[in-house]
Amino acid sequence: MSELWQERYRLSAPQSLIDNETLRVQLSHQSVRDYKADPLPEGALETGLAAASSAATSCNLQHWSVVVVEDPQKRAKLAELAGHQNYIKTAPVFLAWIVDLSRLERLTKYEKLSDEALNYEESHLMAVLDIGITAQNAVTAFESMGLGTVYIGGLRNNIAAVAELLELPPRSYAVVGLCVGHPASNVTRHIKPRLSQNVVVHRERYNTENEADYIADYDKKADDYQQEQGLPSRRWSQTVAARVSSLKGLSGRHVVKSVLEKLGFPLK
Ligand SMILES: Cc1cc2nc3c(=O)[nH]c(=O)nc-3n(C[C@H](O)[C@H](O)[C@H](O)COP(=O)(O)O)c2cc1C
Repeated sequence: MSELWQERYRLSAPQSLIDNETLRVQLSHQSVRDYKADPLPEGALETGLAAASSAATSCNLQHWSVVVVEDPQKRAKLAELAGHQNYIKTAPVFLAWIVDLSRLERLTKYEKLSDEALNYEESHLMAVLDIGITAQNAVTAFESMGLGTVYIGGLRNNIAAVAELLELPPRSYAVVGLCVGHPASNVTRHIKPRLSQNVVVHRERYNTENEADYIADYDKKADDYQQEQGLPSRRWSQTVAARVSSLKGLSGRHVVKSVLEKLGFPLK
């Protein structure tokens, strides 16, 4: 386990760490962007989705759905809509994770009740949070099977077109996608370093003491990673600050709120 800690943080590990199979899978996570065309092993999808369903869910509302897309033409269209991310075409399975308030709307109709609360930002936030938890359970499950995954936030570049392609009802949209498949043989282990716990973990109160030093140290490690991967040298701090410095970094998604309003999310 200490070698996985060292790979993740590029820092020496504490003396005592817990070691088990689940933790090894979690600490070994890496996004995969190159896939074999081979289908998933039999039962892999169903088991991975059972792991997704097993996640905690706010108030047991279970306000998510997933559209499993295997059809190559549909995947090609989704790849284009997500900003020409070609791995959506090569991975055999694409999962579109749906914020689904439509099912609750239907239930209120059957039960002859108002659906007033569905119009509020809180209902939307709960569903988005549930999807993050749910999809990550699926990721851990697929990785435990030796499969690779990568999330696709690029789906939100074209929320309305994706909703149309997947024939989603009003009050639902795909908030994120996930490619799933066998990593191509050229995919090597490349654990991307993360900010140290000195930066992201706060004890009893929020504390930014020495933050700049720790981040400077991380910048160096993140740049080392870039160079090891044959990628352009860059400073993480500068990259992420530049990304949030203007609307350009939102890749056209600054219109999300108005698109969601049209799809049935007034977000009051
Ligand atoms: C919500 C979310 C959306 C993401 N969207 C994309 C995407 O559209 N395309 C992509 O190549 N990677 C995407 N990623 C993957 C991140 O770039 C990746 O997790 C991050 O760079 C860290 O690398 P690692 O997962 O290999 O550790 C996304 C990740 C998350 C959590």
